[in-house]
Amino acid sequence: MSHSEIAPTAHYTAYAWHRLGFPHAEHFVTAKGRRLFWSFRAAGEWLAVVHPTVPSMLQYLELRHRCIEHALDQANPDRVVEIGAGLSRRGLTWAADRGVDYVEIDLPHMVEAKQKMIAERVPAAVRSRARDRLRHEAVDVTGPNFEAWLEKTLGGASRPLVVSEGVLGYFELAERERVARAVARALGGRGSFVCDLRSKEGGRSVAAAAKLLRSGIWLVTRGRGAREDFPSRAAIASYFEQAGFVRSAPIAAEQAAPHLAKLRTPARVWQANGLAAATP
Ligand SMILES: C[S@@+](CC[C@H](N)C(=O)[O-])C[C@H]1O[C@@H](n2cnc3c(N)ncnc32)[C@H](O)[C@@H]1O
Repeated sequence: MSHSEIAPTAHYTAYAWHRLGFPHAEHFVTAKGRRLFWSFRAAGEWLAVVHPTVPSMLQYLELRHRCIEHALDQANPDRVVEIGAGLSRRGLTWAADRGVDYVEIDLPHMVEAKQKMIAERVPAAVRSRARDRLRHEAVDVTGPNFEAWLEKTLGGASRPLVVSEGVLGYFELAERERVARAVARALGGRGSFVCDLRSKEGGRSVAAAAKLLRSGIWLVTRGRGAREDFPSRAAIASYFEQAGFVRSAPIAAEQAAPHLAKLRTPARVWQANGLAAATP
């Protein structure tokens, strides 16, 4: 799948952040996002909406988004770089309301669309609070210049945090590994990397949830779908280790979103940090 084909999912999730009532999400709603959201609901997601343990797409996304917010809260970063930020409301919130330097990166057409939305829809007072804090840059995270760019962008920060939400699962494993290695090296042992990853273990109800997620992604990307999930959580831990991180662990859903802690989901938000001495 070429990377630009992942972009429609950003419209879907932007509508989801709005449905869930997250701050500033209303500025990033698009007609496309609304249409995709309701087509998936009509196509069968309602089965999960009425099922107590299989998460609906909205519950799954809420858990993911809240786990990442929780990780940011705990880490109290002085600079954040968000990979594949799409039309997420997080950068605007953390820059305008929390006073944190925030750099959102995405592919050129998405960056352009987002800057236009901010200029046209976000109230002047909010824009002015975010002005010196929020930046958008067109950077391909799978490209050869990503690591050097990231290292430079994180320069001078003492508690940097790199976020990736709903992005890595679309990449081939080798690409996922290159991105994690670049992040580990650029962080250089400071701060942490927070991202969501899916694994296959967890029994039948998790498998049912994984199938539902895949069908949603399939619909939104018009049949191009997501890449393979990791075989297990141990495989995810070893993915971080091979990238050069010393520690990795999933964010505890009980703390981040107690009302969703019982959901059976194949995806977890992970936090990785430290830098192994012999990072290749
Ligand atoms: C599923 S969307 C997620 C958007 C946002 N993170 C969220 O959760 O709402 C994936 C985003 O990754 C971006 N993307 C895909 N490939 C990329 C690449 N190689 N470099 C940078 N961004 C990329 C897409 O354009 C899209 O905005």
